[in-house]
Amino acid sequence: MWSDGPLCYGGDYNPEQWPARVWAEDVALMRQARVNLVTVGVFAWSRLEPAPGRYTFDWLDQVLDLLHAGGIRVALATPTASPPPWFSLAHPGALPVTADGVRLHHGSRDTYCAAAPAYRQAARRIAAALADRYAHHPALALWHVHNEYGTTCHCEHTARAFRRWLTTRHGDLATLNDAWTTSFWSQHYSDWAQISTPRATQYLANPGQLLDFRRFWSDTLLAAYAEQRDLLRAANPAIPITTNYVLGDWVPVDHARWAAEVDVVAVDHYPSAVDVGAEEQTALAGDLARGWAQHAAACRPAPATAAGRGSPAVPDHGAPAAPAWLLMESAPNQIHTAGRIHAKEPGRMLRHSLAHVARGSRGAMFFQWRAPTGGAERFHSALVPHAGPDSRVFREAVELGAALARLTEVDGRVEASVAIAVDAASGWALRHPGLPSTRLDHHEEVAAAHRALWHAGYGCDTVTPGDPLDGYRLLVLPALYLAGDATADWVREYVRGGGHLLATYLSGAADEHARVRPGGYPGALRDLLGVRAEEFHPLAEGDHIPLAGGGTGRIWAETLHLAGADAVTSYAGGILDGRPAVTRHRWGAGTTWYVSTRPDEDTYRRLLDTAARAAGAAPVHPDAPAGVEAVRRRGERVSWLFLFNHTDREQRVPARGVELLTDAPVDAALALPPGGVAVLRESGT
Ligand code: GLA
Repeated sequence: MWSDGPLCYGGDYNPEQWPARVWAEDVALMRQARVNLVTVGVFAWSRLEPAPGRYTFDWLDQVLDLLHAGGIRVALATPTASPPPWFSLAHPGALPVTADGVRLHHGSRDTYCAAAPAYRQAARRIAAALADRYAHHPALALWHVHNEYGTTCHCEHTARAFRRWLTTRHGDLATLNDAWTTSFWSQHYSDWAQISTPRATQYLANPGQLLDFRRFWSDTLLAAYAEQRDLLRAANPAIPITTNYVLGDWVPVDHARWAAEVDVVAVDHYPSAVDVGAEEQTALAGDLARGWAQHAAACRPAPATAAGRGSPAVPDHGAPAAPAWLLMESAPNQIHTAGRIHAKEPGRMLRHSLAHVARGSRGAMFFQWRAPTGGAERFHSALVPHAGPDSRVFREAVELGAALARLTEVDGRVEASVAIAVDAASGWALRHPGLPSTRLDHHEEVAAAHRALWHAGYGCDTVTPGDPLDGYRLLVLPALYLAGDATADWVREYVRGGGHLLATYLSGAADEHARVRPGGYPGALRDLLGVRAEEFHPLAEGDHIPLAGGGTGRIWAETLHLAGADAVTSYAGGILDGRPAVTRHRWGAGTTWYVSTRPDEDTYRRLLDTAARAAGAAPVHPDAPAGVEAVRRRGERVSWLFLFNHTDREQRVPARGVELLTDAPVDAALALPPGGVAVLRESGT
């Protein structure tokens, strides 16, 4: 159901937290809200296996049967993110160890080491038991493996596994020593046994070791996922399998690399800003998820079966297949921000949900169905809040269910003329200690570029280095710090063929081992960009550097020499006075821009707008008023336009077609109320 048919609607359902008499009311309320999919069992391990190898499935049997009778499908989770107390007592060596060498104890969730054989074995056993019992249950629509892979560990199991991984990656110690530059600070390794995980150390850690540890750990978590996936698949190949991605720059998972291993990319998204920042973050999260789904589609041929896995059914209107992804969790109400909880304003749950659907999500799922009375997250919002169904939130949940039911026909590719490159390894490497500034952040640079393009009205895809770039007018590299030769060639080919490129500072400055490319920044891309940066000038928090012609730069500045490029903007004042800040260069059949600082928000929006227009890109809806977001899905014969009014005034938006949420024909323009959403099946586009 995630790839065609009605959009998925529901969320995490934890019946084990409630007496059985509440379950019937749950199902009745779900039906009232048109919930059609719930995630069950995510944290239920201790209730499913109260003692090693002893299973108590009776309650889950009842729940699944009840849901099935109510017409509600199930994303059945394997509960491996929260081992029961007996497991930790029996296997203290499988508890995780921090970089400081502190062993963590049972008492929260995620207290396991994903490299510990005892944990892996116990996880496989409970997953196999669930597969054995439920793989053919008629309510089962999706397997949801684990929850938000993201923990790390520094125990001896991990160190051994790290060494094994390193032998595969580097082959021999000479290659590893070279990649990690171990001649610096006497770190040369003469035996694999000398290598450990990057534990807490005296001063700055080795950047090559830090980076490889991140890569290794992502692969380790992926292996833990894949072994569960394989046994679930063997039990019933028709059921799709996924795991929910948690987003954040701390996450030790390369989501792009994982995308080809899941049948549907599923993401959890919780904005941290309360104002328009929440809309910006929502748009970025949706574009990231779609980018990973597209990356997966580019990496592997879609399975041919119509029965289930991996092949979005071709819809009636003949839309080109759009890689499916699913918003697996979001908050029905509160936004948690800097120690404060902010209630989402009326209508915002609908707006956020449809912003994800607009970007290709096959529905809107929430954490959680019913708010618990106890437990660590007792005050987290829920579709059925503590106040019960007689509440604004539940009424909005009912409205959302009705709205989603009206959007079943929406499909097709999301219109995007700009691609933003995202690279997990660059994100990790820019977090290393010993960089010229602690303010360097690939993910924040991605967000800044996306924000600027979002405000300027452009549809953006996110891409992984190496992805196909056909059809994109502009490629943005936001501090894409690591560029191995393959990445540099990928960019080069795009520009050689006529593509337009905008790269920001430090893109291509280092190779895939985080070693600086000598000869001037930005290393691998110098000739392409027609510049050579000789020195960097990091700016402190709150500092800015004026740009000639208005605007300011933040975070970073450079002593930049022109080597073929023209200066578009220069620095004004100080030691960089008159030196180029932003440049443009013709190379191959294409054009490249280099931005050696982070322009303020308005300047960056204008700059990206200029670069995009020069590349032949256009905003999704050029006539949309300021503050109205437009996202278009395009099929072969039909297109759908999602409009979101992020202002507090009614807005008139030129449009023609049929508005699907109200069934109202629209002849020339649509009046969008403050905070309103509309979805048009367009005519005449
Ligand atoms: C994550 C987890 C959920 C819950 C929510 C709270 O997304 O997957 O179990 O903890 O966060 O926001």
